[in-house]
Amino acid sequence: MTHILHRSLRHSLPVAVAAEGVTLVDAQGRRYIDASGGAAVSCLGHGHPDVIAAMHAQIDRVAYAHTSFFTTEVAEQLADTLVAGAPAGTSHAYFVSGGSEAVEAALKMARQYFVEIGQPERSHFIARRQSYHGNTLGALAVGGNEWRRRQFAPLLISVTHVSPCYEYRERQAGETAEQYGQRLVQELGAAIDKVGGDRVIAFVAETVVGATAGALVPVPGYLRGVRELCSRHGILLILDEVMCGMGRTGSLHACEQEGVAPDLLVVAKGLGGGYQPIGAVLAQSHIVDAFERGSGLFQHGHTYIGHPVACAAALAVQQVIRRDGLLDAVRRQGEGLAARLRATLGDHPHVGDLRGRGLFRGIELVADRASKAPFDPALRLHARIKAQAMARGLMVYPMGGTIDGQRGDHVLLAPPFIVSDSDLDAIVERLAAAIDAALAETGATTKPR
Ligand SMILES: Cc1ncc(COP(=O)(O)O)c(C=O)c1O
Repeated sequence: MTHILHRSLRHSLPVAVAAEGVTLVDAQGRRYIDASGGAAVSCLGHGHPDVIAAMHAQIDRVAYAHTSFFTTEVAEQLADTLVAGAPAGTSHAYFVSGGSEAVEAALKMARQYFVEIGQPERSHFIARRQSYHGNTLGALAVGGNEWRRRQFAPLLISVTHVSPCYEYRERQAGETAEQYGQRLVQELGAAIDKVGGDRVIAFVAETVVGATAGALVPVPGYLRGVRELCSRHGILLILDEVMCGMGRTGSLHACEQEGVAPDLLVVAKGLGGGYQPIGAVLAQSHIVDAFERGSGLFQHGHTYIGHPVACAAALAVQQVIRRDGLLDAVRRQGEGLAARLRATLGDHPHVGDLRGRGLFRGIELVADRASKAPFDPALRLHARIKAQAMARGLMVYPMGGTIDGQRGDHVLLAPPFIVSDSDLDAIVERLAAAIDAALAETGATTKPR
């Protein structure tokens, strides 16, 4: 009997009692390799002594100070560190307690910016289908996952959704990756024209799509084209790197690899690595300058923004990543993971696509490789894979509805940056066994391999 309203009322969960490095242990003594960092959170793994020591020290110093009365040294230091590592033009960090809160803050910052500069008629957001930006109402509204939105749709602000950048399924025969990207930019241009270029606040996108579509990487030039289009219309670009940012793809920010600087960059998950709940919006100076010249404040706030212990954890996580050269490790081990996935699953009759960047990898499953036909959603293949992986001592992050919120299955991998070669061997071996066992349950053939 539990009094927690868990995520599912139908399944009981193992009780986590210990966690160290890439491993979690349950109350029965079973050990699990955390190959997904939970939901791409635990970038340093579990129980990192430097992060825990930093949190202890901060608790002893100042455990909490409300931000309408005080700032703290640790929050200032974290902001300095983040601004120094952010895209050129970034001047300020706004701290919240997670990804959804950070997206909400970015949406409101963008709207207030236009009110401050005398363009209050801008009231509309454009975002993409097959994206996830969080579960609060504003974040859910810009998100493009049909299943998550459907029952709450009457409560959501109206948002225009355009196509995701989904090369495996949507690049046409005879079209280069670059041409496909430019076609998507044209589609966005048409959507902007339809709303009216002077009525749009911002375009919101995940730089690399995470949970809803499984590590969808943008094609070359696509985000640069988007950036140019937004700038031409005076529309802000908000990149949501809650999942793909803070080193996950091999650069501190995923947008660095696209040569693009957004007006507002949203980060969370890997910022604090799960040691504390924390997210942030990194804002370009023109946004904050407008607030400064205008009302003199950002009209927002929560009780726990800039929480000192959360800031201490995040600062320590970021310092360890830098000190231990972990972005190099993400690139190196990411290639190692991709190579192992190719070797083990590349010819699998039900693996349609292997994709991703750094230690952020997606595996899309198909009933038929030639036609790319997905499995019947009623089979819930993704849930079966998760259960089979857990039974083998492996945490992965599978999801259904990859294609349109209904059809398609994928598995997302996001192991800690400290993952070793032998961990990667075990991850891929257990994952392949879990996929085959799940397929066998559905009656699908796993031959020939
Ligand atoms: C890209 C993206 N944005 C926002 C969120 C919401 O973050 P949170 O669950 O911390 O509210 C998530 C969570 O998975 C995410 O992946």
